Amino acid sequence: MKTFFIETWGCQMNRHDSERLAGLLVAEGYEQTENVDTADLILLNTCSVREKAVQKVKSRIGELAHANSRAAIGLCGCVAEQMHGSILKTTPSIGFVLGPGQINRLPEAVRLLEQDTRSVFSGFNSTEPDDFDSIVRSNRTRGMVTAIEGCNEHCTYCIVPYTRGPELSRPLDTILAEIQSLAEQGIPEVEILGQTVNSYRCPKTHSDLADLLTLAAGIDGIRRVRFLTSHPRYFNAKLIQAMADHPNVAPYLHLPLQSGSTAILKRMHRRYTREMYLQLVSDIRAAIPHINLSTDIIVGFPGETDQDFDDTMALLADVKFGQVFAFAFSPRPGTPAARYEDQVPETTKKERLQALFALTDRIALELNTALVNTTVDVLIDGSSRRSPEDWQGRTACNRVVNFPKRPGDSIGDSVKVTIVRAGPHSLYGHIL
Ligand code: SAH
Ligand code: SF4
Ligand code: F3S
Repeated sequence: MKTFFIETWGCQMNRHDSERLAGLLVAEGYEQTENVDTADLILLNTCSVREKAVQKVKSRIGELAHANSRAAIGLCGCVAEQMHGSILKTTPSIGFVLGPGQINRLPEAVRLLEQDTRSVFSGFNSTEPDDFDSIVRSNRTRGMVTAIEGCNEHCTYCIVPYTRGPELSRPLDTILAEIQSLAEQGIPEVEILGQTVNSYRCPKTHSDLADLLTLAAGIDGIRRVRFLTSHPRYFNAKLIQAMADHPNVAPYLHLPLQSGSTAILKRMHRRYTREMYLQLVSDIRAAIPHINLSTDIIVGFPGETDQDFDDTMALLADVKFGQVFAFAFSPRPGTPAARYEDQVPETTKKERLQALFALTDRIALELNTALVNTTVDVLIDGSSRRSPEDWQGRTACNRVVNFPKRPGDSIGDSVKVTIVRAGPHSLYGHIL
C-alpha cells in the first residue's frame, strides 16, 4: 500500500485542511505514516502569514527531498496559493501545487502524478468543501468543523484574503450534520472554524453564528462548543446572549485586538476603535462574568510610536487576557502595509515584543494562580508531553491542565481536577 506523510504549519484552518487532505488520500487507497523517510508522497501544508514564508518552504522542501529522494512532494496551503505554478520550474521534487481553495482536487492531482504529470490547482471555486465523512480526525476530544471559508476584511497587513479568497459560508444543515456525526463518533467537543467566524451567514436560511451555536449546543453528546476566530466588529448582543444562555458553549473567547491605539487600528483597516473594543469586552464580561479572553497583537506596525505601543500595553494591563499571541509586524508581499514608508526598525519591534511578553506572562500567571485550590472540569486530550504518567486536558475556559493518570480514564473523558500549582501557560492538579 502506498503511504503519505503530512507536515502542517499555520492556523487551525490549516490543521483542519490537513485532516481533509488525509481523508481524501485514504479514500484513494493511501495509508498515513509518521515516517517521512519511507513515505511515497509528502504533503507540505504551508502558512504564509508571517516571516519569510517562501524561503522557509524552499529550504524545507530541500530538506525533505534530501531525507527521502524517492517521494513526490505536494505543496499545499497558503504558500501554494501564493506561488501558483512558479515553483514547479525551479523545484523538480514538487509533484503538484494545490491551494487551500482546491483541496477537493487532491485525488485528481495524485492520479496525474501517478501518470508522471505535474499539476497546479489554484484559485477559489464556489463549491462547498464537503464529504465530511472522509475527514481523518486527528483529535478524538475536539473536532474541527468549518463554518465559513476565506475572508473579506482586507486588514492592510494580512495575506489571508489573497491565499484563502473571499468569504464563503457553508449551509447550516451541512454544518449541523457534521457536528452530529462528531457526536456519534464520541467526540465531545466541537470547534467551529472561520477566519471571521462571527460573520457566518447560512446561504440558504440566513442563520448567523448565534443560531448555529444554539443548535450545536443542543446536539446530544456535544459537551462543549467553541468557535474561532471572531472579529470584534461583528460581535453583537445576540451572539453574547447565545454564549451566556448555553452552559455548554465554552466560556472562552479569542478576540484579536491587534493594537490598543485607535490611530494604528485605523491604518490596519480594523474598523473599530480602542473604545469600541473596551466597550465590547465590558458587555461580554457583564453577561458572562467568568469568561476567559485571549487575543492577538501585532507590535511594530508601520508608524507605531512609543505612545501607540504604550496604549496597547495599558489596554493589556487593563483587560487582563488569559493568553496573548503577539507577533512582530512582518511585511507580506502584495499587502498595503508592506509598502508603507514608516516601517519600524527590527530592534524596536524586538524590544516591544519582549516588554509585552513580560507583562502578559505576569498577568497570565496571576490569573492562573487565582485558580489554585479550585476544582475545574477537564476534558482529557491525551498524554502530557512532559510525562507519560500524566494526562493533559483543557478546561472549558481553554486552560491547559496536567494531572496524574488514574486507571480507567481515557481520552475524551471529562474529569474533575483540583488545581495545586499554576504557571503562566498551564496548570497542574489532581483528580478529585
Ligand atoms: N482572522 C484572524 C487571524 C488571522 S492571522 C483575525 O482576524 O484576527 C492570525 C494572526 O496573525 C492575526 O491575528 C495577526 O495578529 C497575525 N498577523 C497577520 N498578519 C500579520 C503580519 N503581516 N505580521 C505580523 N502578524 C500578522
Ligand atoms: Fe487577516 Fe484581517 Fe481577515 Fe483576520 S480579518 S484573516 S487579520 S484580513
Ligand atoms: Fe497561515 Fe493561511 Fe492560516 S497564511 S494562518 S495557514 S490561513
